[in-house]
Amino acid sequence: MQMGGSKAERIGIALVTGANRGLGLGTAHALAAQGYHVLVAARDAARAAEAAAAVQAAGGSAEGLELDVASDASVEAAFAALRARHGRLDVLVNNAGAIFEANLHVNPLQIPAEVLATAFQTNTLGAWRTMAQALPMMNAAGYGRVVNVSSGMGGLTEMGSGWPAYRLSKAAMNAATRVAAGEARPNVKVNSVCPGWVRTDMGGPDAPRGLDEGVASILWAATLPEDGPSGGFFRDGVPIAW
Ligand SMILES: NC(=O)c1ccc[n+]([C@@H]2O[C@H](COP(=O)([O-])OP(=O)(O)OC[C@H]3O[C@@H](n4cnc5c(N)ncnc54)[C@H](OP(=O)(O)O)[C@@H]3O)[C@@H](O)[C@H]2O)c1
Repeated sequence: MQMGGSKAERIGIALVTGANRGLGLGTAHALAAQGYHVLVAARDAARAAEAAAAVQAAGGSAEGLELDVASDASVEAAFAALRARHGRLDVLVNNAGAIFEANLHVNPLQIPAEVLATAFQTNTLGAWRTMAQALPMMNAAGYGRVVNVSSGMGGLTEMGSGWPAYRLSKAAMNAATRVAAGEARPNVKVNSVCPGWVRTDMGGPDAPRGLDEGVASILWAATLPEDGPSGGFFRDGVPIAW
């Protein structure tokens, strides 16, 4: 395990999926700056190590972790390594996600069901797999914060045409948040967060929000106090419609 940073004692162990770029990398930096030892997870081991090195170079404590959220075997191996090295997990940020439609103009009714299923494997079941591993540990410890990085595009209230695989898979991720929150013991909190439209590879250059604004929403849910909410959907720390 590589440890870095100046704080002698870390306040906990955090795991961020899809942390090699974008909001995931920003969240890894932010959690490390708060004093967490961060497992910087990515499906490419070399990119995970590279991102962890960047967090360390900024003064944080971090290690790279190979984790493909779409693979049962990869998630099981990553959590086996986590349990062996640390024996605990305080914060889980399910950030890994992707858009599988070629573009906005794909006719929703003509999109192959296989594309929808692929989106579910990453955007919905990715979070489900890691929660299935993390929640028993958190429940046993009596502490845990799970953040499912969702999207307003997965909200039924805003639901409309376009991006069917992304919309369906994020709506189902929100359902997974509710189900998992129902399995969580006191002081184990599971929430969905929409970071807003953020300038990343996914959000593109025209998005109105900078990375820090999106990360702030995620960090808020990752560091909730004991009397904070669970089973909710938030942007900027404010409830939004499912
Ligand atoms: N940007 C926005 O405006 C916006 C708005 C609402 C919600 N979100 C959500 O925020 C999250 C992060 O988005 P972003 O904007 O930072 O996107 P991004 O820059 O495209 O980054 C996506 C990350 O997810 C990873 N990933 C994809 N599939 C994976 C898998 N099977 N296993 C592990 N990692 C995987 C990618 O890894 P690779 O590098 O290996 O591909 C990458 O690190 C996503 O869940 C997205 O839906 C973003």
